[in-house]
Formats: sequence, structure tokens, C-alpha cells
Amino acid sequence: MTRHLITSALPYINGVKHLGNLVGSMLPSDLYARYLRANDQDVLFICATDEHGTPAELAARAANLDVATFCAEQHDVQAKLGEAFSLSFDYFGRSSSPQNHELTQHFGEKLLENGFIEERVTKQIFSIEDDRFLPDRYVEGTCPHCNYDKARGDQCESCTRLLDPTDLIEPRSAISGSTNLEVRESKHLFLLQSKLSDEIREWVGKHPDWPLLVSSIALKWLDEGLHDRGITRDLKWGVPVGREGMEDKVYYVWFDAPIGYIAATKEWADEDPENRDWKSWWYEADDVRYTEFMAKDNIPFHTVTFPGTQIGSREPWKMVDYIKGFNWLNYYGGKFSTSQQRGIFMTDAIEMLPADYWRYYLLANAPESSDASFTWEGFSGTVNKDLADTLGNFVNRILKFCSAKFGDALPEGGEIGAREIALAEVMQARIATYNKHMEELQIRKAMQELRAIWVMGNEYLTEAAPWTAFKTDPDAAAVSLRFAINMIRVFAVLSAPVIPTASQTLASALGLQLNERDWIKKPVLDELQVLPAGHEFTIPDVLFRKISDEEVAGWQEKFGGLEGE
Ligand code: 2FM
Ligand code: ZN
Repeated sequence: MTRHLITSALPYINGVKHLGNLVGSMLPSDLYARYLRANDQDVLFICATDEHGTPAELAARAANLDVATFCAEQHDVQAKLGEAFSLSFDYFGRSSSPQNHELTQHFGEKLLENGFIEERVTKQIFSIEDDRFLPDRYVEGTCPHCNYDKARGDQCESCTRLLDPTDLIEPRSAISGSTNLEVRESKHLFLLQSKLSDEIREWVGKHPDWPLLVSSIALKWLDEGLHDRGITRDLKWGVPVGREGMEDKVYYVWFDAPIGYIAATKEWADEDPENRDWKSWWYEADDVRYTEFMAKDNIPFHTVTFPGTQIGSREPWKMVDYIKGFNWLNYYGGKFSTSQQRGIFMTDAIEMLPADYWRYYLLANAPESSDASFTWEGFSGTVNKDLADTLGNFVNRILKFCSAKFGDALPEGGEIGAREIALAEVMQARIATYNKHMEELQIRKAMQELRAIWVMGNEYLTEAAPWTAFKTDPDAAAVSLRFAINMIRVFAVLSAPVIPTASQTLASALGLQLNERDWIKKPVLDELQVLPAGHEFTIPDVLFRKISDEEVAGWQEKFGGLEGE
């Protein structure tokens, strides 16, 4: 049987992630992991914090902490937020782990042995006051083309021309502002990607099933020609290169981060070595199907760079089978931004409403085929209509009515008839479609189908009208109440990958415990008769509350983002 390895792009350590980050990798990967587990698949779901690089060092400095302490703290913050959003990682590791040091150095050595890495001497800007080399984008100055005075050493934001830091007029350190800079020579390792290009292209060609977004970005990079890339940096924080003459150098963050997927699996196994075998998931792992989730800016690194590292090792590492890439979720048409604190961050969101509200809204609006926009109106509209009215109201209406007329157990009497049989047939087809969309990772379509399944509950009640039937034909009312309450169980099971907490609340109201392996596997007509007459229930508190116009106005003011802003 196939085993499923699932990874979410590793969230960067420099701060709490926003809803755009959440919907671009962590949340959809969790949906998929939960769905596959529910369908009895063997799943390993791995994530970690991505902790190296200059932005991490600068964020630590801004927080007045040494970088190791800062990363340890932020890792904890992100791990807790992951739990708060019900992200069901089997392991949430760290790219700074000893396991990643070891594996990254291993890949570096193999690439060197195989002739895919060479040493080159480069000229770089050294800031005497900061006592460090400056990465290109941390050198600022005046653009020689347009005179913009905050141009970065890699590119001028104003005229968009690519620059070399030595092109800048009056260059200064973006870290300290110091102009006391000099050009120094430094020895670095270069990955000779050009030599791997044909093999990477051939491998990409073996995946015609990838989404267009993914394959088009991969081919664009390959067509433009792969440049040899410096994969080491003059920094202290990172995976040390560990070679003579390169004592002060570490690997570049984008070299070690994807290796972090493997290393985090090793962290997972090292916690219970007798029962867990990391290598069987990653090495000669022909029975593993590996699916990666990421936003579009990450696609080149996962379709070209990391595969190049794996291929160049000349070892049989597991390579990705399917990549689910996402466009951007914007905030009122503009970008969510961590550095500018624009948009809604996971900490804000979870203080406002439980995770399931966000999970459903974000998945139903996942930026799959194009960029999507978060708006408060859209969010409140979806919550009020789909979660509160369609699902929540159905559940409360039926349980309250049953309790009032028959007591807190499924009523006795009557037999199911044509209406129930017809409904089960339609639901059977809908569930098949829902399963298909989930398997194909068509997330918006899957959510539309789930919503259509919820709608069937209310439609059934309208047709069966137990409130009027009760007066003339109590047996008929009893049948429809039993059937409708059984529908609550089916909804709980089918909704669990999307809204796990609310689904458990529904199950608990019916005295049931949801198991991660539960799914609707029998014929739906049978599934809708699992709970017999006499089975007791309780009425849950409001499952999803409505969001008022005043709240929307208040949030718009607090977070900004009124139209046109
Ligand atoms: O884009 C990002 O936020 C990166 N931290 C993603 C890294 S994914 C993987 F390669 F580690
Ligand atoms: Zn310019």
C-alpha cells in the first residue's frame, strides 16, 4: 500500500504568520493529511520552522535577543499557534536542528564529491562598523539610473533595474546606516546548477499531472537557464560549511531549508527510534507518494533547486511526486505583509474567533487558480451563511425540536420511505464528488461540495416538515427526525478535515467520539441509519455564531483595509 508523505512549506521564523501564509501551505496540507488519514491511509505530515538567514538575525537583533534564543522562542510561538489552528503535524521541527546540520553537510559533501560544487572567490561588501559582510540587499544607496536614494544593492525598487551593490552611489549599511564599507574578497561554494539542468528538466517532464501554476514556473526557470549559485554565506547563524578555510561560513538558507523536511522527519524518528524509521520515508522509498504544499514564490526552490540538490547527490532520495502551489491571498487587493504588519496575523485571528471559522473561510476561498482577496465582508458573509445558517442552524433546529416533542433521544416509530431513499442516493453521489475533489486537491471545489451536502439537511427538513407532520402523523415526524439526526453524524464525519473542533462538538452532542480514521465508507442509506431509535443526544451550544455588521466595521477600522485604502 502507498504511504503518504506530506510537507508544508516551512514557515519562516522572523514573526507570527499571517492568514496568507496559513492558506498558502499549512492549512491545505493539514486538510489533505486529515482526509487521507480518515480514509485509512498511512500518512506522515511534516513541518518545521525555517530559522536561518539574515532576516532571522535582524529580527533577533530588533527583539534584543541572541539569534538562537530568539529562534527557540519563536519556534514555540509558531508551534502553539499551529496547535491552536488544529494543524495536525506528525512533527513540527526546526531547520536549526542538529539533524539538519548533519544532513545539509552530507548533501554539501556529496555534491562536492560529484563535481557539482566548486569554490570561487567573490568580492563582497564588508561593513566595518557592523563587523560583517553585507548581503546585497542590505546595502543601500542612491540608484545610478534614477537617483532614488533608498535603492537596494540587488535591485532598485523605484526603477526596478537589477543592481550590483558596487553600482550604488554613496552606499551604506541597511543594518546600521554606516558608510564605512569596503570591498573584500571571500571564498564561497557555488552549486553548478547549469550542469544539472538537463536532468532536472527530464525529471520535471515526468510529472505532466502537476498544476499549470507549478509546471509553468518550473519550466520558465529552466528555459531562462540555471545559473551557478553561491550557496554559502559569511554569517555565524546557520549550518556551518565545516571545511578547512571556510570556518566562518554557513550554507545559504535556501540550501538547508528544504533539506529540513528530511531532517524534521529524522527529528520525529529520533524521539522514538524503536518505532519510527525516517529513512524508510526518504531513501529508496518507492512505496511513498510525496506531496508538497507551498505558495508560488516557493515553487522554483521546490521544482528546480532542491531537486537539483537531491539529483546531484547521486543517492536515491525520495523526490516530490505532486506539488500543490497557491497564488496569493491578498488583503483588500494589497499584499499581506509581515514587515509592514499589514493584514491579519494568526495571533489576531485566534483571539477573535475559534480556528474553525478561519479554516472554513480560508479553504473555501483558497487562492488556487488566481490570487484571492480577503475582505471582512466576504469573511462575515461566508461565516454567517454557510457555517451559522446552513450547518449550525440545521443542527440546533432539529435537536431542539426533537427534544421538545419527543425528549432527548432519537424517537421511535415509522419506517424510512421514498424521500429518504432518494436523498441518500443524491448524497452518495455528492460524497463521491467530494472525495474526488479532495483526492485531486481541488480545494475550493471540495468545499463547495461539502457546503452542498450541508444544504441537503435544510432542504430535507423543509420537505419533510416534521413540525407540521408531528400534529397529524407523529410516526412520519419521528422518521424524519431520526434521519435528520443521523445526518448530523454524517456531517460531523465529512466536515472533520475542515472544521475538526466543531465536528467533534457535533459528534459529542450525539454521544460519539470522532476518530481520525472515521469516514463515510458504507452506503449512505446505511450510514444514515447508524443511530437507532432510543439513542440519546444533548443540544450543543451555538455551533457557529453570527458576525454582526458592527463587528465588521470595528475590525475594518482596527485592521485597516476599507475599500480603496
Ligand atoms: O517562503 C518561506 O517562508 C520559506 N521559509 C519557505 C521554505 S520551504 C522549504 F524549502 F523549507
Ligand atoms: Zn533606480
